[in-house]
Amino acid sequence: MAKLAHAQWSSKMAFVLAAAGSAVGLGNIWRFSYLVGESGGAAFVLVYLACVALVGVPILISEWMIGRRGQKNPIDSMAELAEKSGKTRAWALVGFSGMLAGFLILSFYSVIGGWSLNYTLSAVMGTFNGQDADSIGAIFTGMLASPGTLLLWHSAFMLLVIGIVARGVTKGLESAVRALMPALVVLMLILVGYGMTTGHFGEALAFMFSPDWGALDGGVVLAAMGQAFFTLSLGMGIMMAYGSYLGEDVKLLSTARTVIILDTVIALLAGLAIFPIVFANGLDAGEGPGLIFITLPNAFGNMAAGVILGLMFFLLLTFAALTSAISLLEPTVEMLEERTSLPRVTATIVSGIAVWLLGIAALLSFNVWSEFLIFGLNIFDLLDTFTAKILLPLTGLGAVVFVAWRLDRKSVETELELSATGLSVWNIVARVIAPIGVIAVFVTGFM
Ligand code: PFF
Ligand code: NA
Repeated sequence: MAKLAHAQWSSKMAFVLAAAGSAVGLGNIWRFSYLVGESGGAAFVLVYLACVALVGVPILISEWMIGRRGQKNPIDSMAELAEKSGKTRAWALVGFSGMLAGFLILSFYSVIGGWSLNYTLSAVMGTFNGQDADSIGAIFTGMLASPGTLLLWHSAFMLLVIGIVARGVTKGLESAVRALMPALVVLMLILVGYGMTTGHFGEALAFMFSPDWGALDGGVVLAAMGQAFFTLSLGMGIMMAYGSYLGEDVKLLSTARTVIILDTVIALLAGLAIFPIVFANGLDAGEGPGLIFITLPNAFGNMAAGVILGLMFFLLLTFAALTSAISLLEPTVEMLEERTSLPRVTATIVSGIAVWLLGIAALLSFNVWSEFLIFGLNIFDLLDTFTAKILLPLTGLGAVVFVAWRLDRKSVETELELSATGLSVWNIVARVIAPIGVIAVFVTGFM
């Protein structure tokens, strides 16, 4: 491999932690659970798991490979690799659409990160203690109705993101993520344990794992694919950017396995923690984006040690959101750093402010602009839908098709370090199964 002229992760472990930090976030707990609820449960979960295995794995590896071979921001890595392989530089569009997706996602992600910050404070103050399901629902609705509250917390969250990214990713992040992941898993297990005491655990299990295939339609499959991309941070340039800081000693396949297992386990645990509470309290599983902000405070307000557990939960959720959010800003900052003379701090502030402004449009769609619809969606839903269902799959498709069909074979073989059999499996999955999967889902989704 070429000599590396570029910043690098301090260790293999640091990279795994950063990639896992990006992957594990609001998507696993907030987004996964409300999509399962909206999409009727198990059929969605099973299609989602299939998407992760057959499409997520090859795309994750392709993105890392593009970053590590290209050694630049996503746009320039794509352009240069294409040129070196004798193909058109127009492949840079794949990097561009990824960065655009990351940028758009961060704007609404930060709004939800703000909810999480707000709920951390509420948990400390005992706001949820002894409240019934209705008053907890009212707390959530009240927050959405207040542009000032949403703006305050969205701004606080973005400030934290800018502060961390401006310093460079390695330092604060590594130690934070190392402590965070185990704590998150333990806390989720405690909540699953609580779920078992509600008497509705069996119902939750059936809801999540016993499919009613009649509920399956193109929309559900498209949502499952969108979630697979969202949760693994695929299709947004992140994994390409992170791959560009990657040393040559790191094995892509085993690293992908670690990151994906961790991400999937946390999402499934979140579902097993949340749905028993939903059923026990007669709440609506199809509640939508508010789901965890209504169900979990319900549990915390009524269980022993609920204040401490609630505080820990929302604090961890906020940390998980932060480690993902910083990864969303990284590709844009990397590009500004490499392409302009802006120092890192300025590049971070400039892109952070742009994201913050767009986030304001997203948060106003819960109140003042709730009637303002484009294609029948408010701005928040439009940002989420357009990125998860269109931009992410297209970018991911571009990345895997490029690596599987266009990148020179020798680079691919060096990167994968596979036996002959392993390589044939890779070829089938990356050349055929993953692209056909993405395209098929895409087409059915629109029909
Ligand atoms: N993968 C993160 C999650 O599941 O919360 C979210 C995320 C991070 C989405 C980075 C998009 C992204 F670019
Ligand atoms: Na995730």
